[in-house]
Amino acid sequence: MCGIVGIIGGRDVAPLLVDALKRLEYRGYDSAGVATLQDGKLDRRRAEGKLGNLEGRLASNPLPGHIGIGHTRWATHGAPTENNAHPHFAGRVAVVHNGIIENFASLRRELTASGAEFVTQTDTEVVAHLVSHYLSEGMASRDAARAAISRLEGAYALAILFSGDDEEMIVGARNGPPLAVGHGKDEMYLGSDAIALAPFTDEVTYLEDGDWCVVTRAGAEFYDASGRQVERARRISRGAAYVVDKGNHKHFMEKEIYEQPEVISHTLSHYIDFAEGKAKPIEGIDFANLDRLAISACGTAYYAGLIAKYWFERYARLPVEIDVASEFRYREMPLTGKMAALFVSQSGETADTLASLRYCKSEGVTIGAVVNVPESTIARESDAVFPTLAGPEIGVASTKAFTCQLSVLAALAIAAGKARGTLSDEQEAEMVQALVEGRRVLGEVLREIQPRIEALSRDLSHFKDVLYLGRGTNFPLALEGALKLKEISYIHAEGYAAGELKHGPIALIDEDMPVIVIAPHDQLYEKTVSNMQEVAARGGRIVLITDERGARETALQTMETIVLPQAAEIVTPLLYALPVQLIAYHTAVFMGTDVDQPRNLAKSVTVE
Ligand code: F6R
Repeated sequence: MCGIVGIIGGRDVAPLLVDALKRLEYRGYDSAGVATLQDGKLDRRRAEGKLGNLEGRLASNPLPGHIGIGHTRWATHGAPTENNAHPHFAGRVAVVHNGIIENFASLRRELTASGAEFVTQTDTEVVAHLVSHYLSEGMASRDAARAAISRLEGAYALAILFSGDDEEMIVGARNGPPLAVGHGKDEMYLGSDAIALAPFTDEVTYLEDGDWCVVTRAGAEFYDASGRQVERARRISRGAAYVVDKGNHKHFMEKEIYEQPEVISHTLSHYIDFAEGKAKPIEGIDFANLDRLAISACGTAYYAGLIAKYWFERYARLPVEIDVASEFRYREMPLTGKMAALFVSQSGETADTLASLRYCKSEGVTIGAVVNVPESTIARESDAVFPTLAGPEIGVASTKAFTCQLSVLAALAIAAGKARGTLSDEQEAEMVQALVEGRRVLGEVLREIQPRIEALSRDLSHFKDVLYLGRGTNFPLALEGALKLKEISYIHAEGYAAGELKHGPIALIDEDMPVIVIAPHDQLYEKTVSNMQEVAARGGRIVLITDERGARETALQTMETIVLPQAAEIVTPLLYALPVQLIAYHTAVFMGTDVDQPRNLAKSVTVE
């Protein structure tokens, strides 16, 4: 995680670096820092905590210089203190780093033995000392950087700045986490992603894994891991097209929740021909001839995949194996038979998801990616890309990306069902019609449920624990509800398959543990009502999220009942995600937490 940036131009770069870091703060916000080169000397400002603290430092103590690097940190090695904040210095070298240097301990021992003095607890500081060590052996800056990079094990995106050279330069390197070079007019840039560079340029070149580059005012040279100079394509990034602001919302998360009617509609239109009442055929994966499908992802994206498992199995009769990517990558699943693998990721950079993808690829499996960032590594390494058209998601808690993932996966499941002959034309038309109706009511639902959810959330904010229950596709949604609540409100929450209640969690039920039950009136509704009875019998408080029929047919006393329109099964996860997200959002607002940047988290998890 962490975000890195570098700029070389003809004006003071510190304010520009901060501008870029603001757009990277989603990658970590434990501390931040910038370093520049001025009159042949390196200097830096760093601050613990949010970027605002660094801005304060720079306002009272500006940092001149036309070349510089910057960093926003998500701490891995060493506490999030100012001393551990990047850039790290050693001799005439400054370094910013995103990732983990796995062999840092042995390098640190080796460098200490040859006289280096370490002043931080970070893994990154070894990079600065290693480059400095090679410089002291008489190597030119770029050679010293290359020699140091070749010694590093682990994951890294690096930007290295040097004092004392005739020609000023920044050396960048990538192994794992992404790194982009931005091409400007008389100004060049390096950044963790194109969105960071969007205020300056939309023309970017992505480094491939193992690449390193030398960026000067005149342009950039790219080299592969063997040191061979290589050409890397320039692309026009869509990052520049997006305005990253909150509009009239209090938080990005709120804005992103309210964007869902539009972005879901947009995403569905990409995959469904509404005029014809058909899912568009899938290109890149031959669903008709598969024996099974593997799906892998992390966090919220994993829950989207879990919902899709129900859909693929029910509508396309296609067995699905699904794992969290951090398990999948190591469990050595035999990838035999006619199979394909789908990876779901908002950022397209999640380290575990990417590693799982590479495992499947090395075994010759066809890879599909459901991603929100079209230029991401996962997108670039896949055989077939299924974009979610959610636009940039800035709030750390995923909302619109989740429902857009569901939209894509629903359309793929329908198309797969058609391709495999398990859905008739009529069934397909019915499901498409259900999606048409679903997307039409999303905006209304948000408006209608908001006041009740706000009142409910005020009550929920007084509790320490919350349980979410659901069956079928509402089970993964229960997991997602619990994840959303805990990550932004810090209230302990757990999701369970409702049928599992009596196998353990029922022991927790009392009046201090509200139980949020997600139960549209589907074929499992009666079963879930029995589970609610079990909760009520033990004095538990129930929050029921259901539809009109479900509300009519339950005689249970609830703490609150949220009523949604009647909807077909393929639509309910999209619809029921809305109250689940709003509950987490409003509860967190009442708790007074930092909704968009909750503690200890980062949006893009590029380390294991
Ligand atoms: C939770 C959340 C995370 C992400 C997970 C995967 O709200 O956002 O659980 O879903 O880190 O990230 P991506 O989708 O970028 O691979």
